[in-house]
Amino acid sequence: MSQQPSEGTNRERPTLAVVRAARVLADAGVEGPRGEAEVLAAYVLGVPRGRLALADGLSPDQRRRFDALVARRADREPLQHLTGSAPFRHLELAVGPGVFVPRPETELLAGWGVEQARREAAPLVVDLCSGSGAIALAVAQEVPAARVVAVEGSPAALSWLRRNATSRAAVGDRPVEVVAADVTASDLLDDLLGRVDVLLCNPPYVPAGVVVPPEVSRHDPARAVFAGMDGLAVIRPVVPRAAVLLRPGGRLGIEHDDTQGAAVPGLLAGDGRYDSIADHADLAGRPRFATATRRRRTVDPRDSGGAGG
Ligand SMILES: C[S@@+](CC[C@H](N)C(=O)[O-])C[C@H]1O[C@@H](n2cnc3c(N)ncnc32)[C@H](O)[C@@H]1O
Repeated sequence: MSQQPSEGTNRERPTLAVVRAARVLADAGVEGPRGEAEVLAAYVLGVPRGRLALADGLSPDQRRRFDALVARRADREPLQHLTGSAPFRHLELAVGPGVFVPRPETELLAGWGVEQARREAAPLVVDLCSGSGAIALAVAQEVPAARVVAVEGSPAALSWLRRNATSRAAVGDRPVEVVAADVTASDLLDDLLGRVDVLLCNPPYVPAGVVVPPEVSRHDPARAVFAGMDGLAVIRPVVPRAAVLLRPGGRLGIEHDDTQGAAVPGLLAGDGRYDSIADHADLAGRPRFATATRRRRTVDPRDSGGAGG
């Protein structure tokens, strides 16, 4: 009878597995291959990434699973689809086919929204184009006093959004209200006219025809990414609709493409109902989101003593 190697000798040290996988991922053009290999190894071993060096080696079965995941990642399947989860601020969101994977740069817009909402005792916050619910659920977690409404139009994305909203409510966050609607509709959220304190939106904004990485072109829904020839097909109708939903003094934040750092502030200025218009850069210094304040009503001498909007 042949001697079976002991359990210990059969295991591959996590650090070695990571080095091996990082080489495969680098050859496939994956950015940050070492970090991604660590995430996959930690996922297979069921340990936090920071504990990887202290973890037991990978058993033959774990090694097979790890190698299969590395091969899928080398084929440019998004890392978050492989682990089934995407970190976003203090959350882990369930993601997979049919929903946009939340991006780190959007954490900045969400953080700005959290700051604005915290200025109110009981703010009403709306997240348009909510996808997995990243922005809405971050606000609900970080501003417990907020009533948060999340609007999404894709049925597939809505099921991820509802799943994430249910999980967060189950651990004690104030439930986010999910609305299935087209954000470009002229009657969007008609019941909230003039009442919204903070309106946040990370819409699709990539101009049609722009070449995007395989993770995006093959796995993010096209409707979540592209928005007409200039990328403004969703932002353009959202700007005037937000102006009627926001209360005077309410705040608007819209993420945009790094080529739209002048165009989106231009749309806000052109609307005429916003002031304090500003554009903000992401951590790489690229224009990333525009913010504005719904003008407070000004007294118009042509009105008979009333106030004009
Ligand atoms: C860039 S993703 C953002 C998702 C999420 N807010 C985030 O930051 O991760 C844009 C989302 O808008 C949704 N969407 C696109 N057009 C829409 C429309 N006209 N009405 C409602 N949702 C729309 C897409 O389905 C997608 O979930």
